[in-house]
Amino acid sequence: MTELLRPDAVGIARAAALLRKGLLVAFGTETVYGLGADATNDRAVAAIFAAKERPRFNPLICHYADDDAALADVIANDKAWRLATAFWPGPLTLVLARRPDCAISLFASGGLDTLAVRVPEHCVARALLLEAGVPVAAPSANRSGRVSPTTAQHVLQELSGRIAAVLESGLCAVGVESTVLDVSSPTPVLLRPGGVTVEAIEDVIGKVETAVPPSSEPLRSPGMLAVHYAPRTHVRCSAVSVAPNEALLAFGAPLPGAGITFNLSERSDLAEAASRLFTGLRKLDEAAAVLRLERIAVMPVPDQGLGRAINDRLRRAASPRMGRGVWRRRCGEWSDCDDDSIAHPGHEIG
Ligand code: TXA
Ligand code: MG
Repeated sequence: MTELLRPDAVGIARAAALLRKGLLVAFGTETVYGLGADATNDRAVAAIFAAKERPRFNPLICHYADDDAALADVIANDKAWRLATAFWPGPLTLVLARRPDCAISLFASGGLDTLAVRVPEHCVARALLLEAGVPVAAPSANRSGRVSPTTAQHVLQELSGRIAAVLESGLCAVGVESTVLDVSSPTPVLLRPGGVTVEAIEDVIGKVETAVPPSSEPLRSPGMLAVHYAPRTHVRCSAVSVAPNEALLAFGAPLPGAGITFNLSERSDLAEAASRLFTGLRKLDEAAAVLRLERIAVMPVPDQGLGRAINDRLRRAASPRMGRGVWRRRCGEWSDCDDDSIAHPGHEIG
């Protein structure tokens, strides 16, 4: 039975106690809900992978209450400190080399010698991290390969009965996941566009490279696998017209003729669109099943600022589902993942 806890002193104390006991607690951040475990506890971190059915080679972000604690577990450098000062607390994750004496479970690094660290801004997340007194490893609180949750109800829909508790934290204001930036080497590499724009990052540390997922080499960030963030219904991007047998995810003035429409932002505001993206995909996915619509057509979103993160998630949602064989081949290249870790129930993957 999964407890639904209120974001008051009693609920936060209970959530922190459950985390310290090695149990899993989902909580809200300003980006999306995270599925938290005591990051120093191997068993607890391993339980995250089981609950999400997440491949064990896909590493987790470790959340901290403050910058000093976050950068003490990694080999920080000048760029990392400048970014931390500019954007923490906030929706930026930094990937850096683990310190040899780092107390974080190796499972959180998924076999890499780096660790992803972040200081979230959401007041409930911060209160929980302070009360727990331990760093918290937390991927998005969805089943692997599905759309990230932005409400406590979304979390319960996917993980009820599999985790100890969900800490009700209201809506997630940013709505897309954090920006993941590898600053472990002299040239910073963007691994995932997210809540902090590349433009804002480049204002602080200069030019940033963008990682392109190679087809034959090991991926620099396992989460770059295209299959992530997919609804069940097929998604068609850059739609300039829409058919009655399609659901429409609109941006700005909606195209006429759709079976049903969800508007990300009538006034074409990217921040509003990001905050409504995952809710919109979920709602249209559900409606498409009921109304027997064939696809979700998505209107173009400008590829700048937060639009980059939005388009990244939409491209993944639209990417063809990979067959099991592809997963096996890819997994075999850079992990010891087994059948269990590549199962994605409720999602067409083979
Ligand atoms: O906004 C967010 O980032 C949310 C909240 C809960 O913090 N978390 C989140 O976690 O989205 P997750 O696990 O769903 O996505 C983390 C991404 C994955 O693509 C993973 O591969 C990448 O970060 N990542 C984590 N550790 C890494 C590392 N050491 N090196 C490279 N990529 C890493
Ligand atoms: Mg995720």
